[in-house]
Formats: sequence, structure tokens, C-alpha cells
Amino acid sequence: MSPSRLSAELYDGFYDALDKDYRWEAGVVLRHVRRHLRRPRTLLDVACGTGRHLEVFAETLDCTGVDLDAEALAVARRRCPGVRFEHADLEALDLGRRFDVVTCLFSSIAYMPTVARLRSAVRALARHVEPGGVLVVEPWYTPDDWDDDQLNVLVVDEPDRKAVRTSRGSHRGLTSVLDFDFLVTTAAGSRRFHERHELRLFRTDQLVGAFEAAGLGVEVDPEGLFGHGLVVGTASSSRNGHLRPVRGQETLAPGRKHGDRSTRTGLQRGTDGGRGRGSRSV
Ligand SMILES: C[S@@+](CC[C@H](N)C(=O)[O-])C[C@H]1O[C@@H](n2cnc3c(N)ncnc32)[C@H](O)[C@@H]1O
Repeated sequence: MSPSRLSAELYDGFYDALDKDYRWEAGVVLRHVRRHLRRPRTLLDVACGTGRHLEVFAETLDCTGVDLDAEALAVARRRCPGVRFEHADLEALDLGRRFDVVTCLFSSIAYMPTVARLRSAVRALARHVEPGGVLVVEPWYTPDDWDDDQLNVLVVDEPDRKAVRTSRGSHRGLTSVLDFDFLVTTAAGSRRFHERHELRLFRTDQLVGAFEAAGLGVEVDPEGLFGHGLVVGTASSSRNGHLRPVRGQETLAPGRKHGDRSTRTGLQRGTDGGRGRGSRSV
């Protein structure tokens, strides 16, 4: 079963309803990247879904997207005509080339069910990063942050389609379980369906450890995009690499702990658009 059977077009409608700002998020990612790499040229977005971040990245970079869900990829292809797409599993990823920037956003990494598979997934992502390049991964909740009490509703109200998604959270050991129930109504009638998503609750040190085991330098931005932080990895440059790192830039503390905001670099969103912890969702 594909991990995301949710109709890809509904997916976009629901995250618009949640006011998820992909353009702003892509900007934050690129600001992290440019702290290490002045002029990135190529970007690979793994688990790209319907291509919302790629649409923005592709304005300035030569982009490739990968996802396991063929339906999401079909939407992404329509949205981003200049982007190459590959239907592939991130864990077994082998595109035979490297990129200046590799991203894996919106907690997609948490579909890895164990720490061993997290490490193999991060190894696969790191294999695609040019020497001197950057890997940016957006995590999911940590075990300490997760709260079963997640009862949410999202509504899509379009002229030709009305849809509701309710969600309920629970957990089984270190796996968070999200049960989504959908009701979609069009002129042709109504349909209801259910989806269960299981996302592993990794600790920040497990993510940092996976980056280090893959040979990357690591920094953690505790705020990130959607309240879950960002893990930023850098592949050391070598004589073979074409990339030139940025020198003399402020950097976050290596492997800084989640929740320690004492050395923030001012990448957080302004007060007009700030996202509190309460807005975290999937
Ligand atoms: C929460 S969505 C995020 C999509 C997109 N990055 C975004 O920000 O909207 C998770 C995505 O991860 C993809 N995914 C899950 N497991 C995957 C895997 N093993 N390999 C590739 N894609 C995967 C799903 O198909 C889905 O599109």
C-alpha cells in the first residue's frame, strides 16, 4: 500500500485550508542552504508529494522530485512542468547522480518505521548530496512532544466540491497513529473513506546520529517550518566537488538539542505569520 493514498488533489485543498505556506517554507529552507552554499544550482526533493515546495524551488534551481505515490506525482508533474520526477522509494534511492541540495520535508522521513531504516534512508539521501552540498530533513514529533489528544477537522469548500477530513491521534509504542476520515461531496454524489497513517516518533539525537553515521555535519533548527524543526546536514567539500562553501557565516551549534532556542539565527517567521506549536498537524 502506498503510504499516502489520500487523493492528491484533496491533499492540496486540505493543506490550503490549514494555511500551510509552502512559499514561505521553501524560502526558509533556501536560507538555511545559502548559509552553507552561496549559489546552489541543483535540488532533489525526496517524498515531494504534489510538488508544492518544488514549484517554488524550481523558480531558481534545476529541480528533481521523487515520491512513492504515483497519484501525487501526477499532480506534481502538472504543477511543475520544468521539473524531472522519479517514482521511487526513498530508502532504496539510487538516481546515479548528486545534487547541491537534497530535501525531505513535511515529516516524510517519519514513515521509516525503525531507527535502522531511518539510518538507511538518511544514508540514501546523503549519497545524493554533492561534496559541499546540503541535506535538509524536516522531522515529525519526538516521543516527548507527541500527544494522543489530536482531534482535528479540516474543511475544503470549493464551488464544485465540498470535503471534510477529521483526524484522531493515538500511538502504539513509539509509533504515532493518525486515523483520518474523509467525506467528499460533488454533484455526482458523496463518498466516505478512511486512511491510517503511522509515523515513527524519532528522538532528535536519533536523527542527528543518522546524519553523522551518513558522514554529514549536522545542525538543528528547533523551529523549522511547521513546528517540528529542521535537521540540516552538510557534506564536506573535496577536490572533486564543484561547490564552494560560504565562509565566515554564522552557523547553528553542531547537533544542537531540540528545544534550545538560545542560539537562534533569526530564521523564524515574523509575528504576522508565526506558527505556534498548536498549528502542527499533518
Ligand atoms: C506528508 S506528505 C509530504 C509531501 C510533500 N513533501 C509536502 O511537503 O507536501 C508525505 C509524502 O511522503 C511520501 N512517502 C512516504 N514514504 C515514502 C518512501 N518510502 N519513499 C518515497 N516517498 C515516500 C508519500 O507518498 C507522501 O507524498
